[in-house]
Amino acid sequence: MELAIVILAAGKGTRMRSDLPKVAHPLAGKPMLGHVIDTARALSPGSICVVYGHGGDRVRREVTATDVIWAEQAEQLGTGHAVAQAMPHIAEDVVLILYGDVPLIRAETLREFVARVQPDRLALMTLEMADPGAYGRIVRNADGAVQAIVEYKDADDTQKAIREINTGILACPRAFLDQALPRLSSNNAQGEYYLTDVIAMAVADGLSIEAVQPSFPWEVDGVNDRVQLARLERVYQQVQAEALMRAGVTVLDPARLDIRGNVRCGQDVVLDINTVLVGDVDIAARVTIGPNCLIRNARIGEGSHIEANSVVDGAVVGNDCHVGPFARLRPGTELAAGARVGNFVETKKTLIGAGSKVNHLTYLGDTTLGQGVNVGAGTITCNYDGVNKFETHIGDGAFIGSNSSLVAPVSVGPGATVGAGSVVTKDVPDNELAVARSKQRNLSGWQRPGKVSQDNVSQNKASQDAAAAAQRGDTSQQGEQ
Ligand code: UD1
Ligand code: CA
Repeated sequence: MELAIVILAAGKGTRMRSDLPKVAHPLAGKPMLGHVIDTARALSPGSICVVYGHGGDRVRREVTATDVIWAEQAEQLGTGHAVAQAMPHIAEDVVLILYGDVPLIRAETLREFVARVQPDRLALMTLEMADPGAYGRIVRNADGAVQAIVEYKDADDTQKAIREINTGILACPRAFLDQALPRLSSNNAQGEYYLTDVIAMAVADGLSIEAVQPSFPWEVDGVNDRVQLARLERVYQQVQAEALMRAGVTVLDPARLDIRGNVRCGQDVVLDINTVLVGDVDIAARVTIGPNCLIRNARIGEGSHIEANSVVDGAVVGNDCHVGPFARLRPGTELAAGARVGNFVETKKTLIGAGSKVNHLTYLGDTTLGQGVNVGAGTITCNYDGVNKFETHIGDGAFIGSNSSLVAPVSVGPGATVGAGSVVTKDVPDNELAVARSKQRNLSGWQRPGKVSQDNVSQNKASQDAAAAAQRGDTSQQGEQ
């Protein structure tokens, strides 16, 4: 039987107190509705239809999904009315109803759930709760067969005492829904068209209801406010952390790991506290990540070490590299095997060859470094003239002295050396030494100024004048002293 999935997402979400529609609020960096759509996709349904209403345009902008049918529910007249808006858009013979604000439902649970549906049987997801609050109650007969769902506001005291509740998740033969939905009435405590009323209709029509429980209660937890959202965020993070640990990753504190994307980790990876992994992240075996690192859309090769407080963003780190502490690899950075990037180094669109070292206080942008290059502390590639960006090329085995500025476009040949403090504006040929800085002069007999007082003010003045003259290279003044 072919499956259609309908996701209800038209509610206002007043209790979020937000301009952003509730289902667009992110959980682990992705809109809640995005999680539900991804889970729906995992079931390979014939179609997915999202019923949207309040802030619909905003929802569609935040959740870009080209394989989804969007059905508008202009007025929120109830869950039954919402599902009815989807029906004209779908053709499959089984309909599964999910919710944009119930983000953690798992595909495994849903697969088993949907498999229960028959032409004469509905599947209903229910949960036993110690404190069933205001949820709809599951009414069973003496044989234990589900007869109806009674909404809390419509329930009598006996019904309110029932601890089995309706999660809202329901799967039905389409033929049944087609004829049941038009029969719903809004003659109830809330004046809404309740989807839940289809249960009693099904029983009356001779269909049976199979109640199924989720594997974990949090799968059916809904979000009405930011407190509940934060709780589910923690649940989600705990589940991700446990999956990594089971796959052979050491997570020093599972409560201080955040995964906002798709992460693959090899064996014996170690993640220290406050690791944040965002987007597509691939971490190979034996990598260690120190405390407080952000790794976003990055690949890190086997045995590499990312030390504390580093940012690896849109970068590829080869095997056995060393990054940080306090390094920032920006998009387009690639480190070949054994490269080292140390503290207070920023790189952007830069290839660092095998075994090359950029250990301290450096900016490299639009740069290619060959193998075995040593870049001294304080080196800057001046890649931007205020309008255009230019490239710097540094050949194998080159040595860039500390505090050098390489004014792009420029290249330093293989084996070349740049003297410390140079401002390099011309290409440096292979194996040559470039020194581009003012010559040092030592002034013998020069005296430091003393503390200014009435007596020595003129003497001090003379000393300062002499120093200024020396700076200008004015030897006649110097001679007067
Ligand atoms: C619903 C169920 C209740 C169940 C509870 C579980 C009904 C009548 N009741 O109650 O039995 O225990 O969920 O959380 O179904 N929505 C729309 N359009 C509408 C109304 C709702 O899209 O016109 C969406 C909402 O965005 C929300 C979901 O449907 O995601 C549930 O709606 P809500 O009004 O919160 O239903 P509950 O009163 O919680
Ligand atoms: Ca609700």
